[in-house]
Amino acid sequence: MGLSNTIPSLLLSILMFGALANAQLSSDFYSTTCPNVTVIARGLIEQASRSDVRLTAKVMRLHFHDCFVNGCDGSVLLDAAPAEGVQGEKEAFQNNNSLDGFQVIDDIKTALENVCPGVVSCADILAIAAEISVSLAGGPSWDVLLGRRDGRTANRADAEAALPLGPDSLEILTSKFSVHNLDTTDLVVLSGAHTFGRVQCGVINNRLHNFSGYNGQSDPSIDPEFLQTLRRQCPQSGDQTTRINLDPTSPDSFDNDYFKNLQNNRGVIDSDQILFSSTGATTVSLVNRFAENQSEFFRNFARSMIKMGNVRVLAGTDGEIRRDCKRVN
Ligand code: HEM
Ligand SMILES: *[C@@H]1O[C@H](CO)[C@@H](O)[C@H](O)[C@H]1NC(C)=O
Ligand SMILES: *[C@@H]1O[C@H](CO)[C@@H](O)[C@H](O)[C@H]1NC(C)=O
Ligand SMILES: *[C@@H]1O[C@H](CO)[C@@H](O)[C@H](O)[C@H]1NC(C)=O
Ligand SMILES: *[C@@H]1O[C@H](CO)[C@@H](O)[C@H](O)[C@H]1NC(C)=O
Repeated sequence: MGLSNTIPSLLLSILMFGALANAQLSSDFYSTTCPNVTVIARGLIEQASRSDVRLTAKVMRLHFHDCFVNGCDGSVLLDAAPAEGVQGEKEAFQNNNSLDGFQVIDDIKTALENVCPGVVSCADILAIAAEISVSLAGGPSWDVLLGRRDGRTANRADAEAALPLGPDSLEILTSKFSVHNLDTTDLVVLSGAHTFGRVQCGVINNRLHNFSGYNGQSDPSIDPEFLQTLRRQCPQSGDQTTRINLDPTSPDSFDNDYFKNLQNNRGVIDSDQILFSSTGATTVSLVNRFAENQSEFFRNFARSMIKMGNVRVLAGTDGEIRRDCKRVN
């Protein structure tokens, strides 16, 4: 078989596999085997968020960084284990000293292993925890589809290639989503997750002080007054690990202010503001739509989260149900 035949048939089998796998996810997957899974997870997330206002944002981001790398298979949770060929995605450039919230996921896993051992996958815990986190922060609720199984490997290089970066162009952002069958609407609506959580000054240093192509100047798309605020919060030679709010108007609540900020040129990361820049006409109208109508944002967010949660899941007898989310069985 020539290469030209191999690629389409490979693609076809990936597509068919994806369809089969998705067909096996269901919202009542644990209704007989572990009926309290959501109650247990919600209790622990509520408890942890009492001492960490950022916890819900951290947990939401974990599911995103899981799904974009080898699918929603819990790979992001694995510690590096070179002897078993497991690379740590936690140390990938986009994750190292950045991704957080692992402890509450481990606590949920421990609690679940006590009541229904060997039943609930770590990948499903991430999906459930993301929904609980969004809803606790004031965002929408949705029926989480369940039945994912955990992968036996992780890939740091894949994580660095697949996860979006602040300075990515709109074209690159779009393609990093479209490889997972996520379209421009998904890109814009899911970026709305930056309605809560923080960003480190280092991520936006160039944007504030030395923007690419603007030799020693800031990104001209930033509102001038907001630029002054950001430069005060993040001085050029200040501590680059200082964290500032992604949504300056309502930092910890899940609402549509993110989109209103973009309309006012008050997006914090380059990849946020670019959605409202002239180079992206279709994204501009989506930003306007979600800024005008929060219910419309919530409805679409729930839909896109379910789509993202379906990315290349392992189901049936593939993979395993990890006993400890940090290592393969
Ligand atoms: C569109 C491309 C995206 C880019 C370039 C991007 C980039 C980033 C960066 C650089 C940070 C700050 C990390 C740090 O400073 O340590 C961040 C934080 C965050 N991102 Fe994204 N992100 C994107 C999309 C998403 C999506 C789709 C979601 C979820 C659906 C998401 C959820 C979050 C959350 C909740 C935080 C705050 C986390 C915390 O406070 O610890 N992001 N993102
Ligand atoms: C589920 O939790 C409730 C209250 O938290 C408890 O009464 C019930 O026994 C639990 N059910 C199972 C099957 O563990
Ligand atoms: C991750 O961060 C730690 C602590 O700052 C650092 O020692 C390590 O070299 C980093 N890993 C990578 C792969 O950059
Ligand atoms: C500004 O960025 C350019 C490359 O984009 C780099 O060569 C230069 O060293 C940077 N200046 C500062 C002060 O960081
Ligand atoms: C806002 O969106 C909701 C849900 O999509 C829709 O039912 C409602 O009619 C919209 N409201 C306005 C004023 O357009």
